[in-house]
Amino acid sequence: MRVQVEPCCRVAVVYSVVSIAIIVGIFLYRQQIDSKTIKVRVSGTPFLKMQPSYNKRSSHEAFGNMTKTAGTQAKNIYFYNPQFYHVFTDWILDTWGTSKKFERCPVSDCIVTKGEVPMEQIDAIIFKPRDMSDCPPNKPPGQVWIFAEFETPHYYFQSKCFYELKNKINWTMTYRRDADFPIAHGYFRKSDKPKYTQKDLDDIYAKKNKTAVVFISHCPTVGKRLTFIELLRSHGIQVDIFGSCGVMSVECNNEDRYLLSFNVSGIVKPDCFSTVLSQYKFFLSLENSLCMDYTTEKSLHRVMRHPILPVIRDGSNATIFHPPHSYIYTGDFKSVQELAQHMKMLDGNKTAYLEYFKWKQHYHTEDMYQEWNSAFCRLCERLHNPEDYRRVYRDIAAWHISPRGKHACHAPTDL
Ligand SMILES: *[C@@H]1O[C@H](CO)[C@@H](O)[C@H](O)[C@H]1NC(C)=O
Ligand SMILES: *[C@@H]1O[C@H](CO)[C@@H](O)[C@H](O)[C@H]1NC(C)=O
Ligand SMILES: *[C@@H]1O[C@H](CO)[C@@H](O)[C@H](O)[C@H]1NC(C)=O
Ligand SMILES: *[C@@H]1O[C@H](CO)[C@@H](O)[C@H](O)[C@H]1NC(C)=O
Ligand SMILES: *[C@@H]1O[C@H](CO)[C@@H](O)[C@H](O)[C@H]1NC(C)=O
Ligand SMILES: *[C@@H]1O[C@H](CO)[C@@H](O)[C@H](O)[C@H]1NC(C)=O
Repeated sequence: MRVQVEPCCRVAVVYSVVSIAIIVGIFLYRQQIDSKTIKVRVSGTPFLKMQPSYNKRSSHEAFGNMTKTAGTQAKNIYFYNPQFYHVFTDWILDTWGTSKKFERCPVSDCIVTKGEVPMEQIDAIIFKPRDMSDCPPNKPPGQVWIFAEFETPHYYFQSKCFYELKNKINWTMTYRRDADFPIAHGYFRKSDKPKYTQKDLDDIYAKKNKTAVVFISHCPTVGKRLTFIELLRSHGIQVDIFGSCGVMSVECNNEDRYLLSFNVSGIVKPDCFSTVLSQYKFFLSLENSLCMDYTTEKSLHRVMRHPILPVIRDGSNATIFHPPHSYIYTGDFKSVQELAQHMKMLDGNKTAYLEYFKWKQHYHTEDMYQEWNSAFCRLCERLHNPEDYRRVYRDIAAWHISPRGKHACHAPTDL
């Protein structure tokens, strides 16, 4: 049935609809962030204005600068529960805990404490609600709380602490691009040094006698990636699965994987990845869940530094994270069958396949290391200028699960 609207009333109807939309929009937005407290210098760039991240300037800009601010009081930063990833204990506590590291930041009077400072003297707490049954006890006036999460909401939406955090979180540190401290799992930067000669490319191609490889350690996931692999196989793509879900005898060491993904020590052991990947044309970068901006080392530095073409299935917008023609995105195909056809075409056409390596002449990949350095420098700078960065998330659970009134994560639609 069609609703007829008299000409006289159309304007009024449009007017009301628009007003309601604006009111709902403001409501959804304000529910998450108290916009009154946001000042101009809040670093979280307005979401829609963000530039593709692969085009960013050098990440080193906020680190390695010896210019100091003198005479300010040191700020104590406390990482409440770093145990989960050893990268946090090893690196953040051991290196930033000595203050040597902050000496290289523009604002350097900060230290990461290991719990020896009384709670009321802590200026900022970083914590991961996912691993906590109870939130930190109480929030002394002036203390800044930083919500840090590196996995998607699927992994902690049931955590008790998560929902107790209304009006307490000041800043966010997550994989989301609109976080106050966005922490992606790797970056692309412009580079003047071409990576390969034509001979290199010929040699690389000559070694590739297998089709697709995937490394999976968590088998059942909300993203149903094993089902996806089965579907791909049913359309004639040969896929070898490594890791605890696979049948391949070689297992790449997980410890090495972390060391490499985070490259915390700056010394990287050659891992079995290089040997395995060189034999395959495609790397299946299948995330465990499909969430906005959630793209990990599988489609960033850890894989992209190798000569292999990633087939990315995630909930991010790959055009923002990756240089053009550097990946295949499963969402760009109408069906898995069409994707398989495209992969088969590339498998049999050297010229078309190697076109996906052209970006390597103009960009290089970087691990998270410099970006983390820069985040800690920026954190220190903010703590010394809280007035410029005042912010309170009214409902951090809503911010993370349903940003701007939309679901951050979605169920697979391609199976
Ligand atoms: C160091 O900081 C100064 C002052 O903030 C700035 O002008 C300069 O560009 C910075 N240098 C580097 C290498 O980041
Ligand atoms: C592919 O090449 C590797 C060495 O690069 C070799 O060990 C392997 O047997 C070859 N596999 C096939 C199916 O030819
Ligand atoms: C690891 O980090 C060091 C120091 O930042 C860098 O020189 C090196 O290239 C990195 N290694 C890899 C494999 O990214
Ligand atoms: C992805 O980002 C590009 C800008 O880089 C934009 O044009 C496009 O609409 C976005 N796609 C989706 C599905 O949001
Ligand atoms: C292989 O790919 C290239 C570049 O996309 C194309 O020009 C050529 O026609 C293709 N060759 C075959 C045999 O399909
Ligand atoms: C942090 O949050 C509290 C409320 O929990 C607020 O009073 C304070 O102004 C905020 N500080 C900053 C620097 O945003």
